[in-house]
Amino acid sequence: MRKLMVAGNWKMNGDRASISSLIEGLVAGVAQNGSIDILVCPPAVYLQQVSEALNGSLIKAGVQNISQYQSGAYTGETALPMLADFGCQYTLVGHSERRAMFAETDQQVADKCLAALDAGVTPILCVGETLEERDAGNAVAVVASQIKAVLDVCGFERVADLVIAYEPVWAIGTGRTASPEQAQEIHAAIRAQLAEADADVAAATRLLYGGSVNAANAAELFAQQDIDGGLVGGASLKVNEFLSICSAAAAVNQAV
Ligand code: PGA
Repeated sequence: MRKLMVAGNWKMNGDRASISSLIEGLVAGVAQNGSIDILVCPPAVYLQQVSEALNGSLIKAGVQNISQYQSGAYTGETALPMLADFGCQYTLVGHSERRAMFAETDQQVADKCLAALDAGVTPILCVGETLEERDAGNAVAVVASQIKAVLDVCGFERVADLVIAYEPVWAIGTGRTASPEQAQEIHAAIRAQLAEADADVAAATRLLYGGSVNAANAAELFAQQDIDGGLVGGASLKVNEFLSICSAAAAVNQAV
């Protein structure tokens, strides 16, 4: 059985005070029974503050991006061993904002996934098509090629250690969520792609949906057979909204 996960992507938002109250609210409100995995990804500069505030809580902290390099002359980058220093176990990799605005290529995304896996940090690999690609009927093919690029570099045997987040670009931050059917269709295609190599690994791999997930639509999305939780942007900055999304995931877990 796959344990559902809800991950909050805070993007480049917050300051010490707002992050302090956000974390306080989450820690106080979250069900501490471990039935789902809950993760928040603050801007890296706040990782220590968040990790300290989460001490003793089941909520984990991750980051939004990492370097594929270990150390050295890479101005402005954050290395995986630095994250390990803070006990950080998760990183987003290949978020569409990084692909689109910072020109991250499939090759770089794959290298980052491999570096994270080698460091014992779980990559949450983000994939997804643009509206143009969807309208051209290429959604499944685009997502498949983004995943293949990572499998080619990491090797299929590492897939079990990845989390994959399907985030259609047109649904991110737009309030335009993919319908449960649209999301399920792509999730099923991803699982089928993985099953071509190993059905057991495919059945065990967690596939999150991301793109305008909120308290009102989470339950319906998470109820889909191949959707194992969510990667949440805007709604993860609001305590009650995020807690409701976590409750929706926990309810699905119980129903399985
Ligand atoms: P959103 O962002 O929930 O604000 O659409 C999701 C994401 O970018 O991970």
